[in-house]
Amino acid sequence: MTLNERARFSTRCIHAGQQPDPSTGAIITPIFQTSTYVQDALGEHKGYEYARTQNPTRAAVEANIAAIEGGKGALAFASGMAAIAAVASFLASGDHVVVTDNTYGGTYRYFERILRKYGLDFTYVDTSNLDAIAGAFKTTTKLLFVETPTNPVLALTDLAAAAEMAHGRGAKLVVDNTFASPAVQRPIEFGADLVLHSTTKYLNGHSDSIGGVVVATADADLDWLKFYQNSAGAILSPFDSWLVLRGTKTLAVRMTQHNANGLTLAQFLAAHRKVRKVYYPGLPDHPQHELARRQMKGFGGMLSFDLGSLDGARRLLNQVKLMALAESLGGVETLISHPATMTHASVPIERRQAIGITDGLVRISAGIEDIDDLTEDLSQALDAV
Ligand SMILES: Cc1ncc(COP(=O)(O)O)c(C=O)c1O
Repeated sequence: MTLNERARFSTRCIHAGQQPDPSTGAIITPIFQTSTYVQDALGEHKGYEYARTQNPTRAAVEANIAAIEGGKGALAFASGMAAIAAVASFLASGDHVVVTDNTYGGTYRYFERILRKYGLDFTYVDTSNLDAIAGAFKTTTKLLFVETPTNPVLALTDLAAAAEMAHGRGAKLVVDNTFASPAVQRPIEFGADLVLHSTTKYLNGHSDSIGGVVVATADADLDWLKFYQNSAGAILSPFDSWLVLRGTKTLAVRMTQHNANGLTLAQFLAAHRKVRKVYYPGLPDHPQHELARRQMKGFGGMLSFDLGSLDGARRLLNQVKLMALAESLGGVETLISHPATMTHASVPIERRQAIGITDGLVRISAGIEDIDDLTEDLSQALDAV
């Protein structure tokens, strides 16, 4: 099987990084569940010595994700947070990072509670405002760390402008692309140097694995990440690598349905009298709708809406029947959550309020169920508000 250079996105999702197994012809890359590899003779091996360092199942998923993000290579880690730790390994004591202000709560916690102990410095700004990014740079800034769309208020950052700004100041642009997935947005096409994912979400897509990946464009960055992966050891297991590889095969079709369901739910909520505000980049009144059209292919499956009070949010969340009350996102089943007490509970209240995470805010990760079942469920739950 040969995949030519011009292969389109969905074809790359299915085939990139994979060849039929040479010993059996199995079309699916096997789960190489081994810790070590037998060597032919002293100093002679097949490229595999020890499974923390090399594993064929992990190598396949790394090549696959690199190809679908448009990068040169990728390294897979035990979780999205482990991938973020890998990105942070580019930093040395005294370095500074400019970060999207409503970045994932776990990222904020890792930067503030752990990395600050090592003499690293972080400034959080609204990266949808280019002047705010420019104003946050210091002479010590090494990374501009962007999440777009943000969780949970779906603010966007102009990736091409952010890349230009970072490069003009000698910094790398890092994009956490978890919320969009490469089917919707490929930051490397806009100049990003490093793209990371929690593969736990859309890339795996079936809510049955925790993992992370970092995609890079420069050989030197890949060499460092490979060295770091082997040294720190937080690798993606063979079975999880296999699950993610199975997940990415259907990424293109799944995202088409996530996008369609996300848009319809956003439109339904925007027209509902009990809903105060809807956050979704696909709605024409989203402040960055034009940027979304330029930068994204479809608007994703994530949306949030404000019911005005904790009581309203609680009534709705207790009343949904099909939608599951749970953290996480990006699976085939629709999840609904309350950011202020769930995903963003570790963010101090003043910061939550500053970035719009009110007590009445509800987040939906639209799955790929029949849209009529989803709108019926929301409609009956809104009756209880
Ligand atoms: C945007 C984003 N980045 C990173 C992470 C961390 O990923 P993981 O839970 O796989 O460690 C999450 C988890 O929810 C996330 O939403």
